[in-house]
Amino acid sequence: MEIKRFPKSEAAYEAGKKVIPGGVIGTRRPENFVPGAYPLYIKEGKGAHFKDLDGNEYIDYLAGFGPVLLGHAYEAVDNAAIERIRRGFCFDLSQDIQNTLAEKVIEFIPCAERVIFVLSGSDATTAAIRLARAYTGRDKILKSGYSGWHDWCVPIPTGVPAKAREDILPFIYNDIASVETAMEKHKGQVAAIILTPLAHEYNHPLEFPQEGFLQKLRDITKAEGTLLIFDEVRTGFRLARGGAQEYFGVTPDIGVFGKAIGNGYPIGMVTGSNDVMMANQKAYISSTFFYNSFPMTAALAVLKEIEGENVLPHIWRLGEKLQKGMKDLLSKYEIPAEVSGPPPMPFLTFKSDKSDPQKKHQARRRIFFTEVIANGVFLHPFHHWYIIYTHTDEDIEKTLAVMEKAMMKIKAQVP
Ligand SMILES: Cc1ncc(COP(=O)(O)O)c(C=O)c1O
Repeated sequence: MEIKRFPKSEAAYEAGKKVIPGGVIGTRRPENFVPGAYPLYIKEGKGAHFKDLDGNEYIDYLAGFGPVLLGHAYEAVDNAAIERIRRGFCFDLSQDIQNTLAEKVIEFIPCAERVIFVLSGSDATTAAIRLARAYTGRDKILKSGYSGWHDWCVPIPTGVPAKAREDILPFIYNDIASVETAMEKHKGQVAAIILTPLAHEYNHPLEFPQEGFLQKLRDITKAEGTLLIFDEVRTGFRLARGGAQEYFGVTPDIGVFGKAIGNGYPIGMVTGSNDVMMANQKAYISSTFFYNSFPMTAALAVLKEIEGENVLPHIWRLGEKLQKGMKDLLSKYEIPAEVSGPPPMPFLTFKSDKSDPQKKHQARRRIFFTEVIANGVFLHPFHHWYIIYTHTDEDIEKTLAVMEKAMMKIKAQVP
């Protein structure tokens, strides 16, 4: 008799379908993983581990899709937030924690002279383009990479009037000619170029900027009076203390952050040069919960951990160990797949082959992710992964052992 691994998850899903459209919304839908092989609900977590609703345990490599930099239920952060919550956090006026946090951000981030705190990455990218339009008096935006779910940038445009997107002009990452052509065509009209400084498209290997690409964007934007915006919602506080802009050595006019700065608490931020950020005196950027102080308190605790502990070197070292181990396994078992990403954001993509009508890469991917999840390693099949500060060498070694089992199965079943 087959033992069911997820009876509680499945029952909750059935109950969910009666009250939540589709049972589960957005990126957490089961079809975004391997349906049937992945649990549907999580009960609790500690550090880099969690338990699903049925009590199965996992090493977490998705980190809540990125925010959990330090670990689940990380005491230094939670204690600071809880202490704030107990004294009230939702008031009629601002609280001065925002100054302390902004001062710390300005120490960390190269482009930061002024900071606005918001609640999410989408809030932050939307605020950034509003500031850019207010500052330049122009409407058009050149864009590459995911920027969130708001009307101007949502990847699936159903429900969004074409008008809301007509000034958003996509360009191809690492293709400077596509930028130059668009800048020439819309000369004097482009408010900003916004991009993820490291490309991390869904279901694609991560892509580093080619030599000179980011600097070229910096030069073009300067010459045209256009602002350069780096969307560092994923790279921030991971690639380096000062994000991708520090790591790649190119300073944008505006940097947008979210996810890791709060270790799971709802916070995003827009940072930039003084004169650009002062455009908020003309534009409207406000929402009831932007002023709540417990996410800011949590973020300050996160930044103190990054400062005082060995956070980024540890994440880099473990990411390197995982990536090296994966590459060794791929060559040992001769599996056509690519390890990509900077070590804090590793990924594995099974290579498709146009002359492969049987779509072997899909079968290999299914075997791999079904096997790893069954052995307690939570990796996303289509979205890159994250290393968490509370991962240990033992976690990485266990993960590699499980990956080896998966690769042996692939070798046997889809050579
Ligand atoms: C690069 C990037 N920008 C913006 C966002 C939107 O952030 P949020 O989901 O917090 O609204 C995301 C979220 O995944 C992201 O990865």
